[in-house]
Amino acid sequence: MLFCVAQLYHPHDRLIVTVLILLSVYSNKTDFQPDGQAPISSTDKQITPNVESGMVYSKPRQLETDEIPLIVDDFRRAARNAIEAGFDGVEIHGAHGCLLEQFMKDSSNDCTDEYGGSLENRCRFAVEVIDAIVHEIGADRVGIRLSPFVNYMDCFDSDPHALGMYMVQQLNKHQGFVYCHMVEPRMAIVDGRRQIPHGLLPFRKAFNGTFIAAGVYDREEGNKVVADGYADLVAYGRIFLANPDLPKRFELDSPLNKYDRNTFYTQDPVIGYTDYPFLEGSNAK
Ligand SMILES: Cc1cc2nc3c(=O)[nH]c(=O)nc-3n(C[C@H](O)[C@H](O)[C@H](O)COP(=O)(O)O)c2cc1C
Repeated sequence: MLFCVAQLYHPHDRLIVTVLILLSVYSNKTDFQPDGQAPISSTDKQITPNVESGMVYSKPRQLETDEIPLIVDDFRRAARNAIEAGFDGVEIHGAHGCLLEQFMKDSSNDCTDEYGGSLENRCRFAVEVIDAIVHEIGADRVGIRLSPFVNYMDCFDSDPHALGMYMVQQLNKHQGFVYCHMVEPRMAIVDGRRQIPHGLLPFRKAFNGTFIAAGVYDREEGNKVVADGYADLVAYGRIFLANPDLPKRFELDSPLNKYDRNTFYTQDPVIGYTDYPFLEGSNAK
């Protein structure tokens, strides 16, 4: 499957990476787990059910200390497989409440071994994964996504600035580490307009590689922050989902399709994912 994706969708003049993600407590059905086991986590605490969607998440199981090297090795092998399948690199998912972030943040990590407690201990698992992948495929093929300011899936930190800065310092130890992709703190609304909080500037300044900012950007704000040197690149989520030819639309400054929240995170492989229209006459397909 990885091979098919890499071969079919690899653009000739651009890099393509695949995301290495371990979902953990997002899992709401033990049926999806090997032998119906509980999802693995940094805690045994179940996350708060989502009142809006009615979603109740499975109770997780805290990893034992000696299981962590096995997971680090899974990440390493996954990175190697991605390169063998034809990807240019991998993005380590250290954001939005997934396993590595659960360990990093003090709301969700109640481990009492060397993977819990201090900031350094909480980040140890993520740092071991980064080191293992860099050693396996080279720093010039690895990026990471981090969201120290985001509070998602009961996963937040009492000092997101220190957390983000510590992680950036760890990335800087690997010369040539490709990119650090960070999600903005929550937007403020001022005079009825969204204001990018520019909360990522200290990390952009501290990081030695390419810095990518994400979170509620549009064409205008994206161009502005790149021109101002606030970020090297901007990542787009929802408007890219709703506009499969987003680069073309940005180039032409064309109107955008509106995204439909009701189809986010649903299981249909088409509706809300691949059925948004292209610009009429667009050859961007
Ligand atoms: C349907 C959907 C799926 C998403 N999946 C992920 C994901 O797997 N990992 C992740 O870090 N963020 C995920 N996100 C969040 C986006 O990557 C992005 O950070 C967020 O939408 C904010 O950026 P935006 O304002 O440009 O949309 C998802 C968002 C949507 C709408």
